[in-house]
Amino acid sequence: MLIDSHAHLDFPQFDADREVVIARAREAGLIAIVNIGTSLSSSRATVALAEKYGFIYAAVGVHPHDAKTLTPDVMAELRTLARHPKVVAIGEIGLDYYRDLSPRDVQRQAFADQLALAAELMLPVVVHSREAHGDTLATLREWVGFSLGGGTEGSFPPGGGTEGGPGVLHSYSAGPERLEEVLGLGFSIGISGPVTFPKANRLRAVAAAVPLERLLVETDCPYLTPQVYRGRRNEPAYVQYVVEAVARARKMPAEAVAQATADNARRLFGILCR
Ligand code: NI
Repeated sequence: MLIDSHAHLDFPQFDADREVVIARAREAGLIAIVNIGTSLSSSRATVALAEKYGFIYAAVGVHPHDAKTLTPDVMAELRTLARHPKVVAIGEIGLDYYRDLSPRDVQRQAFADQLALAAELMLPVVVHSREAHGDTLATLREWVGFSLGGGTEGSFPPGGGTEGGPGVLHSYSAGPERLEEVLGLGFSIGISGPVTFPKANRLRAVAAAVPLERLLVETDCPYLTPQVYRGRRNEPAYVQYVVEAVARARKMPAEAVAQATADNARRLFGILCR
């Protein structure tokens, strides 16, 4: 039982063999894939994939790289898409000060606007943060506090039904030192392929330290391919290598990590799959 909590199967890297890749995911034991939009067109394609395949769920949102495309019209269509029954989150949203493909003030505005949309629709968020952890966490702290109207931090959503918390910091890269703060906000931690890399001791320390009920696994495919296939395209079936590396770091059986991370993804995203 496995769930890939973060995939980009709508990307052109899968145009030639998308159905085969999805079939391999099924054969590898995946019971769900959460496909994550990165732009308006990617969000539309993500919803279309979720309509076609029962075990694919959708997140819709505009990535910080594309923040400059988030016009009021785009925001209006995102709001409509987000009401689709297969949409389980807003994402991926956040801040990326490493590549700076949109101006930072524009990224911050797009992040804030989409967080507000998530609170309005009572959906969890899938957050991307790269070399922007201070600003990302300050924004999330304000959002969680505001959304709760001064209630207890970490018990999001406001009046909502999910017990899974406000969202996930996907492909977590903020180091062990920020873990306590992220967990204090109620967020889950998404661990991806780099946990398999020989030099990734800091990330393995994070994977070992996260409380089991806050741990998610993901591929972020087509990127971040695990060590065994490094240099090639990543795909959802390879989430098993992430699970194995996390299990070794935690000194637990891989089956227990697979089961717990699948349960966590179902709880966070409200997925009712078999
Ligand atoms: Ni991603």
